[in-house]
Amino acid sequence: MRRRVFRIRSSVVEESVIVCAKDALRESACRGRAMVFTDSNVYALYRDTIERYFPGAPVHVMPAGEEHKTQDTLFALLGAMAAAELHRGDTLVCVGGGVTGDVGGLAAALYMRGIAFVQVPTTLLAQVDSSVGGKTAIDLNGVKNLVGAFRQPRRVLVDGRFLDTLPAREIRCGLGEIVKHGALCAPLFDTLWEGRDRLFDRTFLRTVVPANIAFKADVVRRDPDEKGLRKCLNLGHTTAHAFELCDAKLSHGEYVLVGMLFEGELARLHAPDCDHAFLERLRTLIVRVLGGVPQLPPAAEAAAFARLDKKNRSGDRIALTAPVKQGGYALLELDYGAYLRELTQIEARLREEIC
Ligand SMILES: NC(=O)c1ccc[n+]([C@@H]2O[C@H](COP(=O)([O-])OP(=O)(O)OC[C@H]3O[C@@H](n4cnc5c(N)ncnc54)[C@H](O)[C@@H]3O)[C@@H](O)[C@H]2O)c1
Repeated sequence: MRRRVFRIRSSVVEESVIVCAKDALRESACRGRAMVFTDSNVYALYRDTIERYFPGAPVHVMPAGEEHKTQDTLFALLGAMAAAELHRGDTLVCVGGGVTGDVGGLAAALYMRGIAFVQVPTTLLAQVDSSVGGKTAIDLNGVKNLVGAFRQPRRVLVDGRFLDTLPAREIRCGLGEIVKHGALCAPLFDTLWEGRDRLFDRTFLRTVVPANIAFKADVVRRDPDEKGLRKCLNLGHTTAHAFELCDAKLSHGEYVLVGMLFEGELARLHAPDCDHAFLERLRTLIVRVLGGVPQLPPAAEAAAFARLDKKNRSGDRIALTAPVKQGGYALLELDYGAYLRELTQIEARLREEIC
């Protein structure tokens, strides 16, 4: 059996162990009794698997979708945990994408002031990103992830077979984070560049998932509280969030790709030590994943949303984490007027050059 185990060691994440294995679900990860939390889509597809690996465990199913990442779903789960008489020594097993992991992780943080939980991520995004790092949350009053807590899972069990049932759009969404990690991690970028004709091939993706987890786990281990280094994971996110808040027609991962595309071009104008050949290759990868430049709202409309970004010191100075060279990024701060003007020019140029 091929098996990769990453141990994350730090005072904050000392207990988490990520197992990537063909038979990851066989790992005996649970302390005490297990209760399974999943969503309706995953349960429809994997009910037998869940029953086989967690026999007799109570199962609580939330309706699938980001719109259900709410207090109602959280409290329904907490109620089910109480009804199942879960105790301090028991374990909540979250089987699903980032939504299930975020809601389940928060419930585990709250129930009896904290019980163990295990992540079994079933989307590409959850496997390479959301299940690692210990961030948990629900949305409130229309604001994403407004209420949450840091709580590290006891185990993250990653099984690549879940990718077989994932629609192409969800694969593309996960690829947004994979390309982001690649821009920040030089060896991973080489792998993605070499495999650029197979980016949607599940077999290829299964080979890059462990390197993505190792990269994110290393960043989190070095900066668990997001005081410095972890901010690199915001690459492209200022512009990604601006477009996402403006029209919300694409997935988050697709907006991350769009954000990196635009911020790579902004870096060419503002970062002195840009590697233009790398930015060209990054642009090629992004456009391949997106299949062109997607339909977006006018950049001028989106730019206004960047003024609200948490990273800005004021609404007139737009803070960006932009790609500049392979394995490197730059923290830029642009005058809002320049950001607005340049974003509009970049959009026109990209459409001319790429479409
Ligand atoms: N905690 C973090 O650090 C972190 C990081 C990034 C994103 N997130 C959060 O993650 C969420 C997005 O995660 P997501 O993209 O996984 O969304 P998701 O959990 O909604 O899953 C996407 C869709 O895929 C379905 N699905 C899941 N596994 C499947 C499978 N194996 N086969 C077929 N369908 C499957 C789900 O039912 C859902 O319809 C957002 O709420 C975001 O805020 C959290």
